Amino acid sequence: MNLTLKIWRQKNSNDKGSIVDYPVTDISPDMSFLEMLDVLNQELIEKGEEPVAFDHDCREGICGTCSLYINGRAHGPSTRITACQLHMRSFKDGDTIYIEPWRAKAFPVIKDLIVDRTSFDRIQQAGGFISVNTSGNTQDANAIPIEKENADKAFDAATCIGCGACVASCKNSSAMLFVSAKVSQFALLPQGQVEATDRVLNMVKQMDEEGFGNCTNTGACEVECPKGISLENIARMNREYLAASFKG
Ligand code: SF4
Ligand code: FES
Repeated sequence: MNLTLKIWRQKNSNDKGSIVDYPVTDISPDMSFLEMLDVLNQELIEKGEEPVAFDHDCREGICGTCSLYINGRAHGPSTRITACQLHMRSFKDGDTIYIEPWRAKAFPVIKDLIVDRTSFDRIQQAGGFISVNTSGNTQDANAIPIEKENADKAFDAATCIGCGACVASCKNSSAMLFVSAKVSQFALLPQGQVEATDRVLNMVKQMDEEGFGNCTNTGACEVECPKGISLENIARMNREYLAASFKG
């Protein structure tokens, strides 16, 4: 396949940035999208040019770092996958492909396609944990009975990989789907009850301080989430937040 790539290049967070055209040739349909970028970067390096900076780690849909906006969609044209799981057979010979970073005030561009998502880390640090006594007499988690329905919902919420596609897809750059997944994974379990009140209040406070927008229930986040995190989690977080606000 021969393709034209239109890639966002930006030297650093202060640079204005622009789209630059790159032709790539002899791309196999069996390559992953990131392998195709590797081919381009190898060519750029051999020509003595600066390779395109993009984030990646696991390359198997687990780490959530491969944050690419491809042809106007977070993680590209397929659903329920990350950019690293996207294959070039999803495109046609002769296609033009636009590749941009996530666009959100709370995710400033560091370089080219790499954004700073430490705002997510700070939200997690604000309350995304449980306190467990590890003094040697800790109760085995499997010994605590949990309703199957709640266990399944908690597990589904815990599959959020913190990629930020929900924020990038939202017209308000809201982080509600991410935060609600992190709140729900504990709110549904007995182990998560000890810090439940502080957790939801602190995580929502941090989310607001980071500059994410408000949720207006458009649902783009759920559609573009590679892990299928449900909007049901946002409703649960809102209930948790209301109850916690009354408790103080
Ligand atoms: S909710 Fe989905 S889109 Fe948002 S960070 Fe988690 S996995 Fe990514
Ligand atoms: S590189 Fe880890 S999810 Fe894509």
